[in-house]
Amino acid sequence: MRRLRSLVPAAAAGLLLAGSALSAPPAAASDNGLSIRPAMGWSSWSFVRRTPTEAKIKAQADAMVSSGLNTHGFLYINLDDFWQKCDSNGFTVDSYGRWTVDTAKFPNGIKPLADYIHSKGLKFGFYVTPGIAKNAVTKNTPIEGTSYHAADIANTAFAEKNYNCKNMYGIDYSKPGSQEFVDSWARQFASWGVDYLKIDGVSAADIPDVQAWDKALRATGRPINYALSNNLPIANATTWRTLANSWRTQGDVECYCGPGANGSGYPLTDWSHVSSRFATAATWQPYAGPGGWNDLDSLEIGNGDQVGLTSDQRRSHFTLWAMAASPLLLGTDLTALDPVDKAMLTNDRLIAVDQDGVAAKRVVNSGVNQAWSKREADGDYVVALFNTGTSGSSTVAVTWAQAGFSGSADVTDLWSGSHTGTVANGYSATLRPGETRLIRAHPLSGASVRYEAENAATSAGSTVDTNHLDYSGTGFVNTANAAGAYVEWTVNAPAAGTYNATFRYANGTAADRPMDISVDGAVIASDRPYPATADWDTWANSALSVSLGSGTHTIRATATTANGAPNLDYLDLG
Ligand code: GCU
Repeated sequence: MRRLRSLVPAAAAGLLLAGSALSAPPAAASDNGLSIRPAMGWSSWSFVRRTPTEAKIKAQADAMVSSGLNTHGFLYINLDDFWQKCDSNGFTVDSYGRWTVDTAKFPNGIKPLADYIHSKGLKFGFYVTPGIAKNAVTKNTPIEGTSYHAADIANTAFAEKNYNCKNMYGIDYSKPGSQEFVDSWARQFASWGVDYLKIDGVSAADIPDVQAWDKALRATGRPINYALSNNLPIANATTWRTLANSWRTQGDVECYCGPGANGSGYPLTDWSHVSSRFATAATWQPYAGPGGWNDLDSLEIGNGDQVGLTSDQRRSHFTLWAMAASPLLLGTDLTALDPVDKAMLTNDRLIAVDQDGVAAKRVVNSGVNQAWSKREADGDYVVALFNTGTSGSSTVAVTWAQAGFSGSADVTDLWSGSHTGTVANGYSATLRPGETRLIRAHPLSGASVRYEAENAATSAGSTVDTNHLDYSGTGFVNTANAAGAYVEWTVNAPAAGTYNATFRYANGTAADRPMDISVDGAVIASDRPYPATADWDTWANSALSVSLGSGTHTIRATATTANGAPNLDYLDLG
């Protein structure tokens, strides 16, 4: 049985935080104060690839400004891998064991390039990988400002992943001088004017490196947006979230199927590399929020069909990234912008969906049909429909209940900007293969708001469980089997009036599980029956009227017998 997943935690959190800009993310984000919104800009990897030069990067910065993309928020110009120089033993190093710049590519070094980018009002991104170069260890270079040397901190038994010159050793962070080595590197990058640092080749084994770079970047005093790459294990998601501002959720979006060296050149990608991200965007959704984002990789829009995607697929690509609140880092050649693509990239309605800081949930996933929904801080829902197939049209439908609300909504199409008007119950569209439809649904009065039990306050001994089918949100509450066990929701009444309070519950036993319902501490219904449902997988709705003044209230359901409360899934208030 497919589990219905609705947008409830976001809805509840958004209401509770009314007035604050964003819904609360579930895990603490990095408190470095950066990337409150997903980063937007350009990265050299997809198009420029292994041959970046000062001239090429400057040309992209120029194009970012002359195209006007910067005025829509695209600000970072990120120089990715292959800025460094290698010899046969790996990276050549400076007197303190740090990678040296390939002066054939960057004859003036990095700082003048960063200065140039800054002079255009843009920000400069840069690239490194964990560990210390073999050449540093062989030469036993000193660690700047210390009496330690490279060999003191290297773990030569551990080969760090590196895609370019390779020959990187691990760093043993128990050794004195290790943090100081990373500090010296971060200071150098800061002095060059780096505003964004991608640390690539990160795996769970590199958590100490990620921690060291986090400390080192903070110690520079320069705000440096900190990005992890490129296929981060979800098992450590809360760690990435605490330490960094974004993390790649998957391998590269590039297909490496172009005619040039190492598969460079057009096409840059293909639909399979884009569509494989629907699943990871769904599983990583809980970890995105202000200060820390799920990075779905570069956005391959800008150069028309030759990137390897049809225009329908490119709109779907952008829609998914925006729904996921992913960083928007263009991988294309900005010096040759295609007019159709430029119109896509300058669609501020799409950009606003990305920058709202809310990662959408997948609420329909059935064959080629997908629907995603998110509730924004002002109470609007943004809903995306996709036909992810490559042949044949498909009718994709979502109910407002799946999206997270009920009743009717005032609908606007966000790609076209056209106002559809009032739509009751749900939305559907027949979509070409690869096509998307993105709408903003403004619930009209009479619509109800869902408050998930897993976000409510509960009595001691309660757990949020997922071991029965068909719950909404991320689980349901199983309170202790005792009289007095309760779930208490904090709700908001937009206006004084009589509301319908609908409790969704399951009771897989034969006996009734009565509860008292109280509002702001006063019992309004005592011993209300919550009789058996067929089993613990079968949920029933039980509604009663509550009269509420405008503003915040608590609604509590309290078990009155020793059997305790039924399992509780949510409270809908409308
Ligand atoms: C079972 C069931 C739980 C339920 C409990 C109860 O253990 O799996 O979900 O909460 O019974 O009696 O309350």
